[in-house]
Amino acid sequence: MSPLGLITSCDLTPFANFSPCHTVAQTTPYGEPSDHLHHTRLAGHPVIMLQRHGPEHQLPPHQINYRANLWTLRAAGVQQVIGLATVGGIHPQLPPGTISLPDQLIDYTYGREHTFATTLRDTCGHIDFSSPYNTALHQALITAAQSSNIACRPNGVYGATQGPRLETAAEVRRLQQDGCDMVGMTGMPEASLARELNLAYTSLALVVNWAAGMDDDGIDLQHITACRNDGLYRVLQIIQTYCHQQTTVTGNKPDL
Ligand code: HPA
Repeated sequence: MSPLGLITSCDLTPFANFSPCHTVAQTTPYGEPSDHLHHTRLAGHPVIMLQRHGPEHQLPPHQINYRANLWTLRAAGVQQVIGLATVGGIHPQLPPGTISLPDQLIDYTYGREHTFATTLRDTCGHIDFSSPYNTALHQALITAAQSSNIACRPNGVYGATQGPRLETAAEVRRLQQDGCDMVGMTGMPEASLARELNLAYTSLALVVNWAAGMDDDGIDLQHITACRNDGLYRVLQIIQTYCHQQTTVTGNKPDL
């Protein structure tokens, strides 16, 4: 059974019952990934975790080596990747604390190494990206959330901004007019690089603040951290249920 890849924005081990991790350092033709790979198990299912901002949260969104991160996960045998994201809510039904599974995205990032297609090949690097997230994995997470009795919004448009600063209120109004329901900084080029490598990738997003201008109280950065820590337990419950369902389907015996 191939391990599930989890790209995370922080250390997830406090938030679920992971078996003890061992770490593996990897390098890639595209340079160093953000961190060592953490090999573990959740509900009997092999999981490989990678902190995209690095072990000390030292890498801002535009300095993450997205190519090395995806490459190293695939080299470790991963075929499915869940990108955990924290986002600002734009849609009125995405207040802080909501879990969302976006089904579309708009990319506003620039200057990032966004493709493996550095030489012309048969397809010139073209990929079909009309549905940017893997439909089967997306649906499986909705099912896992339902069977865990955890509320989540099963769709929405993720706007990927450059950061590291948060947006102006006018920028968020523009995102809203474009059809974005939530805004984050790391969803791209992660999703398209995963597609280039034929990895089944989907995003599981936790809303941690109202996007700029959406709330009279403004944005409180300390509140964002508290909201993230509170919500991650529910996010991890969904992933644990997903892992449990995979273990059951494949008949894999947990070795916890
Ligand atoms: N904007 C961009 N990225 C984010 C936000 C936001 O408001 N909240 C969490 N990540």
